[in-house]
Amino acid sequence: MIVAIDGPSGTGKSSTSKAVAAKLGLSYLDTGAQYRAMTWWMLSNGIDVDDASAVAMAADKPVIVSGTDPGAPTVTVDGVDATGPIRTQAVTAAVSAVSAVPEVRARLVRLQRAAAASAPEGIVVEGRDIGTTVLPDATVKIFLTASPEARAARRNGELKGMEATSLQATREALVKRDAADSGRAASPLAKADDAVEVDTTELTLEQVVECVVTLVEERT
Ligand code: C5P
Repeated sequence: MIVAIDGPSGTGKSSTSKAVAAKLGLSYLDTGAQYRAMTWWMLSNGIDVDDASAVAMAADKPVIVSGTDPGAPTVTVDGVDATGPIRTQAVTAAVSAVSAVPEVRARLVRLQRAAAASAPEGIVVEGRDIGTTVLPDATVKIFLTASPEARAARRNGELKGMEATSLQATREALVKRDAADSGRAASPLAKADDAVEVDTTELTLEQVVECVVTLVEERT
């Protein structure tokens, strides 16, 4: 059982994916956290993230390990817990440049496919290209969308207490990151032809989870 959940940032992908995995007794993999972990390592090691060849050369260096418990997902880099540090604005601002580098994607896609192959009961995998590229044979593919306003408001809620950010700045940063993620050459953010699109703008988390669980049950 592989459930692929893709979509732009702030559509509720992480909350939905974790809740669906917990409800169905599946593992959970946040592939965005892996791109963030790679970016955090690059920034921590003085690699210029705008220099694609420097990023490509370093892409196989960090050892990234994802915990797949939906109740407490973690990511370690070279044995260091990076679960908190990967959420800073510095990482968020740099991640699209790093994730556009094909060598980075090749490395992380290998990890993602290995995680899916070794999940005992199955797995919910969230990202941008899971249904199109990483796991094209997923049992169920979901593509979440929401209005830019709803996405910015949700992201601001998540960031509350971490770093002061205005709604407008969050909205602009989201739109910029989505444009970069959708416009890159290497496996851009895209809806798979056979994915079910769910607009979460007017839905509560519980409603989205219910909708995805129903789709999974229909397909199994
Ligand atoms: O999901 P999250 O917002 O944490 O993802 C951070 C970034 O990682 C995205 O903006 C995108 O650049 C990259 N990403 C990706 N492919 C994925 C998941 C995330 O390129 N499958």
